[in-house]
Amino acid sequence: MDSVTSLDLLPGWPFARLRIAEDGRLLQLPAFAPADFETHAPAYPPAGNGWILEPALRVIHANGDTSGDLRVVEAAQEGNLTTVVLRDPVYPFEVTLSFLAHPEYGIVEQWATIVHEEEGPVTLTHFASSFLTLFGDSFHLTQFHGDWGREATVAEEALGPGIKILDSKAGVRTNQFRLPGFLLSVDQPLDEEDGKVLAGTLAWPGNFQFLFEREPAGEGRRDRTMGVRTGMNPFGSEYRLRPEETFMTPRMVWCVGTQGAGEVSRRIHRWARTHVIREGDRVGPILLNNWEATYFNFDAPKLHSLFEKAADLGFETFLLDDGWFGRKYPRNDDTQGLGDWMPIQEKIGGTINDLALVANQCGVRFGIWVEPEMVNPKSELYEAHPDWVIVQRNRDYELRRHQLNLDLSNPEVEEYVFSVLDTILSESPNVDFVKWDCNRYVTQPGSFHLAPEDQSSLFIRYPRAILRVFQRLASKHPVVQLMLCSGGGGRVDYGSLAFAHEFWASDMTDPLHRVDIQWGYSYLYPARVVAAHVTRWGERPIKFGVDVALSGRFGVDLDLDQLSPEETETLRRGIETAKAIRDVVQLGDQYRLLRTESCSSVMFVSPDQERAIVFVYPVADSPATTLRLKGLLPEAEYDVREINGETGFAPERIRLGDDLLIPARPAFASLVLELEAI
Ligand code: GLA
Repeated sequence: MDSVTSLDLLPGWPFARLRIAEDGRLLQLPAFAPADFETHAPAYPPAGNGWILEPALRVIHANGDTSGDLRVVEAAQEGNLTTVVLRDPVYPFEVTLSFLAHPEYGIVEQWATIVHEEEGPVTLTHFASSFLTLFGDSFHLTQFHGDWGREATVAEEALGPGIKILDSKAGVRTNQFRLPGFLLSVDQPLDEEDGKVLAGTLAWPGNFQFLFEREPAGEGRRDRTMGVRTGMNPFGSEYRLRPEETFMTPRMVWCVGTQGAGEVSRRIHRWARTHVIREGDRVGPILLNNWEATYFNFDAPKLHSLFEKAADLGFETFLLDDGWFGRKYPRNDDTQGLGDWMPIQEKIGGTINDLALVANQCGVRFGIWVEPEMVNPKSELYEAHPDWVIVQRNRDYELRRHQLNLDLSNPEVEEYVFSVLDTILSESPNVDFVKWDCNRYVTQPGSFHLAPEDQSSLFIRYPRAILRVFQRLASKHPVVQLMLCSGGGGRVDYGSLAFAHEFWASDMTDPLHRVDIQWGYSYLYPARVVAAHVTRWGERPIKFGVDVALSGRFGVDLDLDQLSPEETETLRRGIETAKAIRDVVQLGDQYRLLRTESCSSVMFVSPDQERAIVFVYPVADSPATTLRLKGLLPEAEYDVREINGETGFAPERIRLGDDLLIPARPAFASLVLELEAI
């Protein structure tokens, strides 16, 4: 064994300190504990041999023994990567914990790798990515929940004794009800600028679970620590691990700070843009999508007219949504055709590339919508492969949006899903944007492909397969940008975002609700990845919709043929504004300034801090208010002026620390301000 006995995974930050006890057990100093705090907690406790709280790992050995014991046999630090190898003293069973530190962001990525050489398969029932312990008097948990149309709703609660679980059991489209992350505030409720905070997010498109368990208090012992187990959801997911296999958990991403939520959010944003998101350092295109403009009801002349108007208004990319494919079952509504990726040539005027060429000739780039993981029973694909779907074989299948999930635990299906898009893109070199949709979750988790004893591995094999597909497509088609979509924000994890440029944040495009939805996402995701489009939902003033979309990756879902001259000009100006400010919004630092019943305000500051954009969104009649601007250069003075229209805001000058007065404003009279250092 190496002689190292203590490991500081992230020097300078109040967490991620490990110690190897004399008996070889791996311990952790609880995050935020004083440095001389004596009571170390186990760093990855297995069940069945002494530990009686929720374990990090539970294994049923090949001989039926349900106990685990892990002792360090090797610990190594190389650059920012620390690996600790733990072995069971009795069984040939090994867990390697890996910690990749990003000291400049205060972030650690952590995962576990499990192998064994037992006589036969072992069964893993619990398999944490990480098991972190925190020190504090009180803990407040913030989560981001909500069903379709209300994604990323912020909710906070104080954690008492017992267990609290945030999870997903949806199998696919696992973020439909909850984002795969949380913030845990120590010793006070979550504050934007103040206090100890731990933010975590799991880089995994499958079922996840975050479990919080407070140490029980007793006579002479206070409950001063909180255990946080994170990883794939163990629910319904027992995994038979064969001796020759390697089992790797997804990465858990931790970010810790002592200056409130805003600061950890900004560090996650920077880390994600730099290290995770595909081309995260490039701004996204100004996009026209035809979904809410036409739904399934379009033809070639209609599309050509949209291309021309889009080019004239300054759009950069046209995205053709659902409804362009199907042969025997043309996809003219959502009841049929899904799975049959042949273009309806008479509807779109030729092949996909023919259409893309027309768009290019008009002056816009071209993208398409696909949903390759799914199938309508009314399709040629289903007729040819009824055993490719996820169902319980002795039950009637249950449809959602008239469709079924394809079984990606089957390698043949995985290959098919890859080939759908690979073929389209190979045959259509003029397509350079893809919206990858995913419109149902799993309700009957059965596979025709998996053996009876492996059925419960479906929830693990599926997400692994979809990540492999994304990875292959990204490397084979590097210039094609990818938007993740899932009936809105059902797939927004950092595992998938490594291969994607952005996600469709919600089908809810009423800007009134979008203000809240985008606010919620901002805790864990930078504006670069939050696709935000102007539509007619809610019938709000178009300028309000434009101003709200400008604080994400800006786009539009409107029928340009139906706009009044004033609306056309509002859009034209919005597009010009988007081009002028998107570098600051998408690549800068975000500050959540204000959120009251009647008004919300967010601010973005350029990396050099010379420029900033402030958005003020009155969601109801809003009284005069002051904004304390953030992130500006301490010595500089800034010119403040209104952009994207004139609503009567008198220009002024301001310094960091000054209050900016926003006069009373009627509902939806939003304001966009640009600050420039003099
Ligand atoms: C989902 C998406 C929409 C649109 C439709 C098409 O609902 O969220 O944006 O693409 O599918 O069927």
